[in-house]
Amino acid sequence: MKNFVSVHDVNNIDTLVQRALAYKSDPFADKSLGANKRIGCLFLNPSMRTRLSTQIAAQNLGMEPIIFNVGSEGWMLEFEEEAIMSGTTVEHVKDAAPIFGKYFDILAIRTFPSLKNREDDYSELYIKQFIRYAGIPVVSLESATLHPLQSLTDIITITEAFKEKRKPKIVLSWAPHVKPLPQCVANSFSQWVNAWGKADFVITHPEDYELNTDFTKGAVITHNQNEALKDADFVYVKNWSTYTDYGKIYESDPKWMLTNKKLELTNNAKVMHCLPVRRNVELSDEILDGPNSIVTLEASNRVWAAQAVLAEILKSNG
Ligand code: CP
Repeated sequence: MKNFVSVHDVNNIDTLVQRALAYKSDPFADKSLGANKRIGCLFLNPSMRTRLSTQIAAQNLGMEPIIFNVGSEGWMLEFEEEAIMSGTTVEHVKDAAPIFGKYFDILAIRTFPSLKNREDDYSELYIKQFIRYAGIPVVSLESATLHPLQSLTDIITITEAFKEKRKPKIVLSWAPHVKPLPQCVANSFSQWVNAWGKADFVITHPEDYELNTDFTKGAVITHNQNEALKDADFVYVKNWSTYTDYGKIYESDPKWMLTNKKLELTNNAKVMHCLPVRRNVELSDEILDGPNSIVTLEASNRVWAAQAVLAEILKSNG
């Protein structure tokens, strides 16, 4: 594995999942794999789980993680080619990234979309420019359109929690929110579940919240949440803003929030969310504090997903 920015960087999802679960059983099995190597984790946007789990994963492999909050502590970077830098940006990525390439062995980046211009966000300019100019493997810690470490974690968590010999039914259910959020987690979850191919996958959302079909192709899509929830084994709850009329909120009806009453339609489904979550807006207290929620298990598995990915990159890049 050279880079890790989407499911397309993975040869075999199940092999990566099993490696992650092996690290969960034996966190220090490869404690010297990353000896004398450094990972630079650049945050252009905030994080809790991704930052801490990636640090722990690197340390479990004997690697030194260095965190740089570029967004709040660094020079403001320019990403456009041939930019005339007379505005607010101070340093071009083509000058900064090669330096990161000398300081680190792996570069990991978090960058959010603007949600103002769909073409710009979906071009993934920021992460592509780091790949182009850093000269070392690049790991996405969430980009403008995808969150692959979260999605790998989600497949790990479903694999761990589902013991039956049939395909699970997984439902991605849109939830209300107070502000427009990226489509990254929903895009990425859809992309990974479809590529995995081991589940019956249904996406439910209000009208006009269609995601990019590049990611959802293969899923059943319905605006009828109750119908979608029927017999579900997993309900993945997430808000996203509109894709077609980009970055808007059209719908905030609390009737889309998952409750215990709605959970009765499911096959006693486990409830997932990537976190952070707005309680009693996106997900009810009764669900989050109840026996069906596996959000803490899910978040704890972020370590093993990151560790499996970093190990794979270290092994393939010497
Ligand atoms: N799920 C997730 O990526 O959490 P953070 O934003 O806290 O990293």
